[in-house]
Amino acid sequence: MSVRKRIKRKKEHILYSLILENQIKRDVFKDITIIHNCLSEVSFENLDISSSLLSTKLDIPLIINAMTGGFEESYYINKALAEVAKEKNIALAVGSQKIAFKYKNARQSFEVVRKIYKEGIIFANLGTDCTIEQAKKAVDMIGANALQLHLNVPQELFMKEGRRDFRGTLQKIQEIAANLDVPVIVKEVGFGIAMEEAKKLVNLGIKIIDIGGYGGTNFIKIEGMRRNIRTFKFAKWGIPTAISLIEVLSAVEGKADVIASGGIKDGLDVAKALALGAKACGIAGPILYKLYKHGKKSVLKYIDDIIYELKLTLAMAGANNLKELSERPIYIGGNTNKWLKFRGIY
Ligand code: FNR
Repeated sequence: MSVRKRIKRKKEHILYSLILENQIKRDVFKDITIIHNCLSEVSFENLDISSSLLSTKLDIPLIINAMTGGFEESYYINKALAEVAKEKNIALAVGSQKIAFKYKNARQSFEVVRKIYKEGIIFANLGTDCTIEQAKKAVDMIGANALQLHLNVPQELFMKEGRRDFRGTLQKIQEIAANLDVPVIVKEVGFGIAMEEAKKLVNLGIKIIDIGGYGGTNFIKIEGMRRNIRTFKFAKWGIPTAISLIEVLSAVEGKADVIASGGIKDGLDVAKALALGAKACGIAGPILYKLYKHGKKSVLKYIDDIIYELKLTLAMAGANNLKELSERPIYIGGNTNKWLKFRGIY
């Protein structure tokens, strides 16, 4: 595919994700309730919301998830996101860097994040069709702390120009993970990961999984809008975020750190994901939306609000830190409960 077409596609992803963001409910943890603690004895000021991914400490368990890069406008988006990440001390992922191997000028839109966020936690991003060499270059390009390898079969299938041959994916993930100096994060983009595949990934030695569940940004819908085609019931394809998170956590049995993402909106969502056992939460669409519609200041406020709401939840659950939050009992109702029972998880 030509660079011009690739850039056009990236611009359209932003455009349609912004249009759809307004229509998404983002209620992915509606079936999860953290049980209230009437005898909470916390001090709000002393609440500790730090977490970790492998040996890397996260002062705040939030990630601005992968979105863009490769063209002029994306330079300014990534620059603004890096400034936000730096000011709020949260992790940041860039969008797929594949374009930078075909088009040299694309590099600066990725490199800018490390220029700004010198000491920060930054993730590189590629699809599983990359070579080991490209994976190393993507990491070097931004001095990344880890490489996200995204899984997006439904998106590719709904793209006219998308991949149709996915053979060898697992082996590719293994080869890349074995040849990098930084961890690989295997990441879905909004269709979720089931326990069967999570087990395969852990058996390969993958140590971080971002479940990227259904309920937020929807790439079948986005690709459908790009091509002006009907997506029929496939717009509902995917494993809902809460379910995918619990499936993956039950499958990895502590052998991998799990990131929750896909449809996460506020601090209560983040708290519920962490209470279930996630180590951090990724958010993409709402951050891009706020940046476009209301500017960088509103993204900074949004992050502050999420942190405040997370702390409110800790205080009401009587948890001084995220470990105590994860020990708090939880009620699982609705379809999530039925699904997990059917799958033999609860
Ligand atoms: C994405 N996402 C994404 N993911 C990835 O691994 N590589 C990429 O290049 C992109 N590109 C991209 C562009 C845009 C405009 C959006 C909104 C998203 C997916 C993203 O990282 C995340 O997995 C999903 O968006 C689900 O999270 P949210 O948006 O529901 O919080």
